[in-house]
Amino acid sequence: MRILITGAFGQLGSAVSKAMMDSHDVIRTGRFIPKGEYGITLDIQNKILLQNVVDVIQPDIIINLAAMTSVDGCELNPDLAKEINIAGVQHICESFDGKIIHFSTDYVFDGENGPYTESDLVNPISVYGETKLSSERILLYHNPNHLVIRGNVIYDDSPTTKASFLNWVVKSLEKNEEITVVTDQINNPTWTESMADITSLCIEKNLSGIVHWGDSNQLTRFDFAVKIAEKYELDKKLIKPITTEKLTQLAQRPLKSGLKSDKLIDTLGVIQPSIDDCLNAILKRNKI
Ligand SMILES: NC(=O)c1ccc[n+]([C@@H]2O[C@H](COP(=O)([O-])OP(=O)(O)OC[C@H]3O[C@@H](n4cnc5c(N)ncnc54)[C@H](OP(=O)(O)O)[C@@H]3O)[C@@H](O)[C@H]2O)c1
Repeated sequence: MRILITGAFGQLGSAVSKAMMDSHDVIRTGRFIPKGEYGITLDIQNKILLQNVVDVIQPDIIINLAAMTSVDGCELNPDLAKEINIAGVQHICESFDGKIIHFSTDYVFDGENGPYTESDLVNPISVYGETKLSSERILLYHNPNHLVIRGNVIYDDSPTTKASFLNWVVKSLEKNEEITVVTDQINNPTWTESMADITSLCIEKNLSGIVHWGDSNQLTRFDFAVKIAEKYELDKKLIKPITTEKLTQLAQRPLKSGLKSDKLIDTLGVIQPSIDDCLNAILKRNKI
């Protein structure tokens, strides 16, 4: 199959592109193409360019990973967030008749009583969450055979993203810098490669609608940072606890969040990896 990927050079885009390359004809696109990489420059805000690229490439599937992902950035600039996260998705729907796989987030929930199933009530509490929820609705209204995969706290040590919690923890501790990490935001962080493998299986089975995928550990962001420090053999005493209230982030965050993955576990016959397994795999990969 010919698969066109938008946002292909971001954190998740890199892993998804790599996972698809052996079995599909993958065309990577990005707003900017990193040095040494191949791809087509494509901003999903530009509908004319998007239509041209779709007409020339004629993909069977589009995987949309292009998004404004800075949660506080979206709060600061809601117009741009709507342009990219909502209008961008609308452009893709209007430019392409085939199957679209789109990524969304647990931030569509308010974090009062997670972890959440696909049928739980949504209630976003940030601009980012609102725009991602709108994007899901546009996509599935356009064609219910499209697929939305929701993820949460997606991590890797990819060099091509500003959005990596793992990189931030490792780089700060390596420089002996203290970091403060919240003790009351709970979810189930998910390795990019775990998400990429699930995406491949969803394509194989031609799934549609909304599905959740998260790895197996439900834990606080503080405990996740400590786990990272332990695995990378860095000084975990540099990680200082703080509450969300005291941190005063610009956008409100869901506190008790996370995504139940039972629907995909049952449909695909898969098991969720643990954070320990994933961090071990990242460290092993880096040694090769
Ligand atoms: N990270 C998470 O924890 C998380 C959790 C749940 C869901 N998701 C979803 O997963 C998807 C991928 O996120 P990620 O973690 O891989 O974040 P990321 O590393 O920030 O990747 C997003 C990519 O989209 C690109 N992009 C931004 N605006 C664009 C535009 N107008 N046209 C084309 N490309 C554009 C970015 O390029 P630039 O580098 O040029 O900005 C970047 O390559 C997003 O839909 C996100 O909402 C992420």
